[in-house]
Amino acid sequence: MGRYQDLYQRSIEDPEGFWGDAAADITWYKKWDKVLDASNPPFYRWFVGGELNTCYNALDRHVENGRADQTALIYDSPVRNKIQKFTYRELLDQVSRFAGVLKSLGVNKGDTVVLYMPMVPQAVVAMLACARLGAIHSVVFGGFAANELALRIDDAKPRVIVSASGAIEVKRLIEYKPILNKAIDLAKHKPETCIILQRQVVMAEMTPGRDLDWEELMAKAEPSPCVPVKATDPLYILYTSGTTGKPKGIVRDNGGHAVALRWSMENIYDKKPGEVFWAASDVGWVVGHSYIVYAPLIAGCTTILYEGKSVGTPDPGAFWRVISQHGVKTLFTAPTAFRAIKKEDPNGTYIGKYDLSGFRYLFLAGERTDPDTYHWAHNLLKKPVIDHWWQTETGWPITANSLGIEPFSVKPGSSTKPVPGFDVQILTSTGKKLGPNKEGLVVVKLPLPPGTLPTLWNADQRYIDSYMKLFPGYYFTSDGGHMDEEGYVFIMGRVDDVINVAGHRLSTGSMEEVVAKHQDIAECAVIGAKDTLKGQLPVGLVVLKSGVAREDVEIKQELIQMIRNEIGPIACFKEAVVVPRLPKTRSGKILRSTMRDIADGKTYAIPSTIDDPSILGEVEEALKKIGYSRTDEKS
Ligand code: COA
Ligand code: AMP
Repeated sequence: MGRYQDLYQRSIEDPEGFWGDAAADITWYKKWDKVLDASNPPFYRWFVGGELNTCYNALDRHVENGRADQTALIYDSPVRNKIQKFTYRELLDQVSRFAGVLKSLGVNKGDTVVLYMPMVPQAVVAMLACARLGAIHSVVFGGFAANELALRIDDAKPRVIVSASGAIEVKRLIEYKPILNKAIDLAKHKPETCIILQRQVVMAEMTPGRDLDWEELMAKAEPSPCVPVKATDPLYILYTSGTTGKPKGIVRDNGGHAVALRWSMENIYDKKPGEVFWAASDVGWVVGHSYIVYAPLIAGCTTILYEGKSVGTPDPGAFWRVISQHGVKTLFTAPTAFRAIKKEDPNGTYIGKYDLSGFRYLFLAGERTDPDTYHWAHNLLKKPVIDHWWQTETGWPITANSLGIEPFSVKPGSSTKPVPGFDVQILTSTGKKLGPNKEGLVVVKLPLPPGTLPTLWNADQRYIDSYMKLFPGYYFTSDGGHMDEEGYVFIMGRVDDVINVAGHRLSTGSMEEVVAKHQDIAECAVIGAKDTLKGQLPVGLVVLKSGVAREDVEIKQELIQMIRNEIGPIACFKEAVVVPRLPKTRSGKILRSTMRDIADGKTYAIPSTIDDPSILGEVEEALKKIGYSRTDEKS
């Protein structure tokens, strides 16, 4: 057996031995009493009794062990034309002083802090400062509107919110402060203090008595030391879309997280301390948490915080410029970012302008890498391209080509093989195990490995209901797919009402809740339709109240604005169409997946439970009008 097979088998047969060994790469104040506590399934706890501090592992120990002058963080902002480097010593200085600021404002171990920040170094500083104090951060992505921020404030109940005056989106300035003010107005929970980073390009008006200036606080800050926390204490909460309007608060613990991420850097990404690792994502998403901030720093690498896009900042050569300028060995991004480059530079002319000789691997995740994009990237870069699959819930990859322990070996369209720790299986809807190449529901046999969600924030029952109830003994991923005879996993998409837009996970249910509030709308459905650039885009199908005689286009514009205001521009909701009726089952369930198949031009079966099949023809006509193809073939 090869090294991967040996390790994989051991991780499944002897998880305590496997992860107990991996934990030796982390510095602990107190060793754990038990590697895995499985006494209360499906609530599994890793490294019970152990104590550590995640910030210590990410910064202090490197400074103490000879990496003080190595660059820890490179802030590269094409939108500000600025590059700033922080050594481990400098980053530790900033973080320990900001921890002092938070402490002086009453933030202690177990308190929550919401961060609503653009891609600036202070976002990383604030995350690590919370970790230093044992406080729990909850980062909210900047593209969410006030209402979404308010939902998260009410759930996380932060003592302090850290934000900035605004963000720069390519060439546009986005003011964050009015969004923050509105969110606090909407929320029932009111934070005691907001710390605002003033960015010179967009100055915010401060609210007296509540808002404090980042720079002023830092100027008089005293450094604060690391606070030991239990391995099982939460490090952060990250909200992600579920099928309803209420986001799920994914909890991440300290111990399992540090162990899993440290292990992943060496064994999945084949990274050595001192190398440059770049995750071109946003700190507001799980990829940003794990692979911009925690994993590269815990592993002693140099990480890049990139405030730009793959195109338009300033051109489709942006990624190649960053790779060559900073000596990036590994890039991790979403396929959509590559499709955007491919669209603007199909022949890869910009690639030739840069020296990419030091570049080794391209890892893609967030959505399935379609074979076209895979071949395009691989042919032009002539480097290994690895599609790997994961979720906010798991925090690190479930399937990958683990390059530290196996040779490069991928199959286009597959996110490759289960990572050690993840016992991936394919089941039927009634829980029967499926053999090779049979399409089914993708599950992971419990226990999940360290670093994955131990529960949902203040919602143990929802954790059980969402993930553990359908197939007792298994974590249900909500993804559909299959596994071939060699163990390669093919993830074909979500089987729930979650869609994936430009690698961002969004809930069509929450969009429906907003659309349904429109005064002229009787009922609606939002589906995710295929898009060549962003993977999927939401499309609203709306039935008007009787007697409404307004122009469809006017209603559509109002809906677009409502979604922007209530969910945010990141929803990319730009299309809605009026239909006379919605197709439903006899029991009244809207047939969203059939409408999605129609929009995608797929052959679809007319469901036997449908109330009135002629409605499907009406939906086809309506979708065709807005450019979504109709199928001529039905089965
Ligand atoms: N703050 C405020 N608004 C934001 C924002 C932020 N942090 N991030 C995005 N937005 C806005 C954008 O300005 C845009 O608004 P618009 O409709 O007014 O133009 C909208 O949200 C959609 O943004 P985006 O999806 O980024 O679309 P785009 O057309 O600007 O860029 C891509 C297209 C493909 C380049 C971009 O989607 C991309 O790079 N995606 C990769 C995503 C990723 O890294 N995912 C993480 C998983 S690894
Ligand atoms: P998120 O929680 O935002 O990371 O989104 C997780 C979802 O994105 C998964 O449930 C999948 O549907 C999808 N996803 C992520 N990575 C991949 C991949 N490599 N292949 C297929 N789907 C993916």
